[in-house]
Amino acid sequence: MSEVMSDLLVCGSLNLDLVSQVPHLPQPGETLAATALARLPGGKGLNQAVAAARQGATVAMLGAVGADSEGQMLRAILEAEQIVHRGVATLDHLTGLALINVAAHGENAIVIHGGANRALSASLVRAAMQPARVYLAQLEVPLDALHEFFGTAPQQGSLRILNAAPATGDAIALLTQIDLLIVNEIELQQLANQHTEHTDTLLGEDCAPLARRLLTNSLRTVIVTLGAQGARVIDADHDTPIAAPSVSVIDTTGAGDCFCGVVAAALAEGDPLIAAAKRAVNAASQAVQALGAIAAMPRRDRS
Ligand code: RIB
Repeated sequence: MSEVMSDLLVCGSLNLDLVSQVPHLPQPGETLAATALARLPGGKGLNQAVAAARQGATVAMLGAVGADSEGQMLRAILEAEQIVHRGVATLDHLTGLALINVAAHGENAIVIHGGANRALSASLVRAAMQPARVYLAQLEVPLDALHEFFGTAPQQGSLRILNAAPATGDAIALLTQIDLLIVNEIELQQLANQHTEHTDTLLGEDCAPLARRLLTNSLRTVIVTLGAQGARVIDADHDTPIAAPSVSVIDTTGAGDCFCGVVAAALAEGDPLIAAAKRAVNAASQAVQALGAIAAMPRRDRS
């Protein structure tokens, strides 16, 4: 590891988001005319890194883009946001692409082509590891890379956060390598199902018992994000609801990423967990009021 300590090291995806605004999400077999089309920077890793940087955190990123114009565009965003990107490799693959439909009421549906993100290897991560107070990752890069990332991160004196998104049971194997898990309700149900080797749905079950099933020797807290309802911070003994302000929703894309990036930045700064979660709920409520993921990430309100 190099000597420079960042507040936050993010390991994750960088995508070009092709965002179509549509009257409603298409049904199977339906062709819809988009009312607007935008090419925007995205990817859960990049979104979270930018959200944290806009809170004032020093951020470095590990990931991969392609040797194409999209990769150059995403690197320019990293540069503009002052995110250290020497750990972002340029590989002989297409840059990751997300096809995003945003409906009039703000709901979205996303199809991903992982491209270079899927080629991020454990050895690339090993070579690019850097010291940080907080280590943050999601599930749009290969599991091997994430095992290397969390396995190499120091267990003492740093905090390892996994946002288990998008939903997949694969993250179970990472739960012994992290200190904090952030999931939405669907991701929580997927993980809890995987954990108990059930294939039935756990929908309708309360979050707290599901979250507590996932706790390990290192993982002591799960934050469940609940969209307009805010979030719950759950550990073995407490279940603390964090309410969200009521806002008009334009686009929910990247709201969860905003939450994760802001929690990580706040924890790196020394905020207690509940205060960090409140700050993140408020930031995510701002993020849903504009189109796009990164375009909508708020800057820190110091008033
Ligand atoms: O969480 C939103 C992000 O998911 C988008 O920016 C898209 O790129 C996908 O990774």
